[in-house]
Amino acid sequence: MGEREQQLVIRDRRAALTPSDGPRTAPPPGGHIAAVDVFCGIGGLSSGLAAAGIEVVAGVDLDGSCRFPFEANVAGARFIERDVREVTSAELSDLWPDGAVRLLAGCAPCQPFSSYRKGTSSSNDSRWALLRQLARLVEETRPELVTTENVPRIRGKSIFQDFAIRLRRLGYSIDYRICPCTEYGIAQTRRRLVLVGSLLGHVNVPDGAQRDCPPKTVAQAIGHLPPIEAGTADEADPMHRSRALSQLNLRRIAVSKPGGTWHDWPEELRAACHRRTTGAAFRNVYARMRWDRPSPTVTTYFHNFGAGRFGHPEQDRAISLREAAILQGFPEDYQFVSVEGDVRLTTLGRHIGNAVPPPLAEAIGRAFVASLKEE
Ligand SMILES: C[S@@+](CC[C@H](N)C(=O)[O-])C[C@H]1O[C@@H](n2cnc3c(N)ncnc32)[C@H](O)[C@@H]1O
Repeated sequence: MGEREQQLVIRDRRAALTPSDGPRTAPPPGGHIAAVDVFCGIGGLSSGLAAAGIEVVAGVDLDGSCRFPFEANVAGARFIERDVREVTSAELSDLWPDGAVRLLAGCAPCQPFSSYRKGTSSSNDSRWALLRQLARLVEETRPELVTTENVPRIRGKSIFQDFAIRLRRLGYSIDYRICPCTEYGIAQTRRRLVLVGSLLGHVNVPDGAQRDCPPKTVAQAIGHLPPIEAGTADEADPMHRSRALSQLNLRRIAVSKPGGTWHDWPEELRAACHRRTTGAAFRNVYARMRWDRPSPTVTTYFHNFGAGRFGHPEQDRAISLREAAILQGFPEDYQFVSVEGDVRLTTLGRHIGNAVPPPLAEAIGRAFVASLKEE
């Protein structure tokens, strides 16, 4: 983290510690935490919260292809296929069991804020407004606990600042910070902004740096998986499947070095855009990961060798769906599809790349559980 960013984090944390003027609510006596996850996707966030001992009662998402993985992995939780914009406060309130400490979790789509979309106009993108939907539901139902997660860049955006102000006005004590995933036992350099809010007293975003946990490497995470070829799948696990490569890309990956770039390739294999530019902006495309480092951020395009540093460290292919899921921190037996025929690289790639890494979600869940015990 750069010096300026560290200063911002310190400033943000001071702001978070400023007592809010709002009322403090007493937790229901003996109450456990029950969560509803809006924008739940395939359950990265929910499964992590559940691992921390939180009862996840339901997830809401308008993409029906998330139903199977969500319900198969988040025990007892219901998948509700709905547009969050249409969810009313009465419907949401009915989902929480009586007597529980209510947690509203929601990670609105992050594409409008992603650095991969820098320079693209997002003013007309209706997804910008979805964080406001989370604020609306908080305002209307006043759950005792709230959490959201997004790309780090959102911190400086008015939509996020407005969200934080709105929560403070409602009486929430909030904290937010940028969490490097490597600090939470995840073999990936992804960084995410996490916010937690509480009406029951202050809760801090768990600080992974305080854990005694050296960065996990690609080798530790996926080195044990059986080898497969581009365009094939492992017989025992249909999710261990990698995308086919063209003859040209097969020749390119064959000469790619782990941690290297296309600069290592002979001239005739280079793309026109590589020849036209110094390539500074494209260093991390058509590249292999290194065994001895965490992987780069697993985007929704990880199955595409040309879209990032998504080449396997030694096999001539992009990483498989299963490898990407493990690098995102999903347990190795996480179920993504009900039958083999359902394995769609693009759909599953989008869901896996969009997910909150479960170990990060578990750390957030544990912070809530611990805060309740202190209360
Ligand atoms: C960042 S992903 C959430 C990832 C999820 N929290 C996880 O950890 O797996 C955002 C999700 O929002 C869903 N979504 C987008 N617009 C929506 C809307 N208007 N209503 C409900 N869900 C929506 C997408 O289908 C996607 O699954």
